[in-house]
Amino acid sequence: MNASIVLLPGDGIGPEVTAEAEKVLRHVAARWHHQFHFETHLMGGCAIDAEGDPLPAASLAACKNANAILLGAVGGPKWDDPKAKTRPEAGLLRLRKELNLFANLRPVKPHDCMLDASPLKREIVAGTDILFFRELTGGLYFGESGLRGLSDGSEIAFNTMSYSTGEIERVVRLAAQAAMKRRKKLTMVDKANVLEVSRLWRRVSERIVKAEFPELAYEVVLVDAMAMHLISRPSAFDVIVTENLFGDILTDEGAMLPGSLGLLPSASIGSDGPGLYEPIHGSAPDIAGKGIANPLATILAAAMLLRHSLNLETEAAAIEAAVDKVLQSGARTRDIAARGATAITTGEMGQKVLEALAI
Ligand code: NAD
Ligand code: IPM
Ligand code: MN
Repeated sequence: MNASIVLLPGDGIGPEVTAEAEKVLRHVAARWHHQFHFETHLMGGCAIDAEGDPLPAASLAACKNANAILLGAVGGPKWDDPKAKTRPEAGLLRLRKELNLFANLRPVKPHDCMLDASPLKREIVAGTDILFFRELTGGLYFGESGLRGLSDGSEIAFNTMSYSTGEIERVVRLAAQAAMKRRKKLTMVDKANVLEVSRLWRRVSERIVKAEFPELAYEVVLVDAMAMHLISRPSAFDVIVTENLFGDILTDEGAMLPGSLGLLPSASIGSDGPGLYEPIHGSAPDIAGKGIANPLATILAAAMLLRHSLNLETEAAAIEAAVDKVLQSGARTRDIAARGATAITTGEMGQKVLEALAI
């Protein structure tokens, strides 16, 4: 197959982990006789430095024309000034919105051989296999916002959360479809005891599930309780659907089930156009430039890219199997190594995945 893939390495550890995922994709292309055309573009802080814009027009145009996009991470202390005109993260948000990527899939499935890497007890984590659907183009992230001075010299700021019926329906429908192909259980997370927006989520999702997915076991859980259930009985959940900010927070919490943010990939999809694939972690400024970041989340994001945007299931599964094998062999970057154990570098981990794929 012929496919064009845009790489947005971004900032911090972004370029380090993207380089390893690119090698894996190039290996897949050679092994399965595909033509992948790679183009690398600026996004995030590096784009602010070079062009004064976190999502330059050329990067956006390239993304729109691609079959799929692989992103490292954006952001970092250099661009954190609260008074700055723009921020790296604004580029990512604009990209999601421009491409209408309203559904963010974040699988949380701890590897069996990694159960001891979790800060939670083995018996709690065992058997966990959750697929989060985080709504990605609405809610507080995209609502009206503002900041103004008050007469007493203090300030007031606001962000508003709003969702339309259609925005809720489309992501709930995708989540329900995914649940039908899995263990047929859907959990919708909201804060309907307080928020009007959540009450609309509750009504709309219940209607969709009743009318279109009657076979699903469907439940609603309040977000504060979910934060607790996620670490007390994670294996009780299958597909979880929720709004943008709740999903952002719950999936970082979920990353602690496998033991590290460095293991969790994500896929942002929704429209017929290109999907965006990225690790759920950020630019990790504390370890950037040291060559010790875990590239597996980005490599697994590349597998999701092959599966969801290019329909290459065999190749995607081969990458996942290779990652499994590498972890089973005991290879560990620092974030997942036992205390005092030897850890390998980002490049060595990437190399091990390539070797496992080649067998
Ligand atoms: P972070 O995810 O970058 O890091 C949190 C912790 O996890 C750090 O201790 C880091 O070292 C560790 N970590 C993250 N990824 C790792 C990996 N692959 N291997 C090993 N350890 C890893 O979150 P943060 O520090 O809160 O944010 C840093 C910057 O990243 C901020 O500017 C934030 O806005 C941005 N960010 C970007 C994205 C994205 O581009 N999609 C996502 C989250 C945060
Ligand atoms: C993520 C990140 C982003 C988000 C930031 C960097 C805008 O935390 O992808 O989870 O909040 O969506
Ligand atoms: Mn996040």
